[in-house]
Amino acid sequence: MWPEMRSAHNARKEMNVLDTHITVAIDGPSGAGKSTIARAAARRFGLIYVDTGAIYRTVGLACERAGADCSDTAAVQALLPELKIELAYDAAGEQRMLLNGEDVSDTIRLPEVSLLASRVSALPVVRAFLLDLQRDIAAKHNILMDGRDIATVVLPNADLKVFLFASAECRAERRYKELVEKGQNVTYDDVLADIKQRDYQDSHREIAPLKPAEDAVMFDTTGYDLPTSIDKMIGLIHERFGEV
Ligand code: DC
Repeated sequence: MWPEMRSAHNARKEMNVLDTHITVAIDGPSGAGKSTIARAAARRFGLIYVDTGAIYRTVGLACERAGADCSDTAAVQALLPELKIELAYDAAGEQRMLLNGEDVSDTIRLPEVSLLASRVSALPVVRAFLLDLQRDIAAKHNILMDGRDIATVVLPNADLKVFLFASAECRAERRYKELVEKGQNVTYDDVLADIKQRDYQDSHREIAPLKPAEDAVMFDTTGYDLPTSIDKMIGLIHERFGEV
């Protein structure tokens, strides 16, 4: 049993909702705090947290390593059957990404991999390739899945759909601080430009563009600090599934 599944089981037992299958979909642009907020909320309710951006990042990294142009459908398509992409959960319950057996969880966080992921995610062959993987996890577990098209494409019947966003400037400020703390040599303007470029790419692509589902709860985190955002997200889940 995955470590996270054990804690998921216990938390759900406390909630007395073990016989219900729960799917929560959280979508939104990069840098809105989605993964931190989603991870904390998933823990609180004992749901398995699935970060789908990490899966696209892993494909982007694989393409780069193989020397394939991330925007070249034929080149990427030829590579896909050779890729073994797996999600695993470490002792702390954190999602790890394995590429052909190698743990690439840290490498996929490099800024250059963000752009590769964005480009590769615009290819229909890649989205189709990853659809079953994502649906499979959601079918087997009680999950909170975050991404761009979870509520609109991957899990259109999710029990709760949240579209989490913040202004580009607010997201750039947060990401800039994060990167500086990690010792990376970046400027605020570069981070803002990167966020705007990814927003544009993610929301203008033909397939599964970033947009809220019609029945999504709109959650604007501009001006909220992290603890407040997490509390509000927990409140939304409580509202939907009831009190513990
Ligand atoms: O959330 P992230 O920054 O780790 O995502 C990396 C890229 O993958 C981002 O540019 C958008 C893309 N993505 C996607 O198209 N669909 C998803 N469900 C998740 C991420």
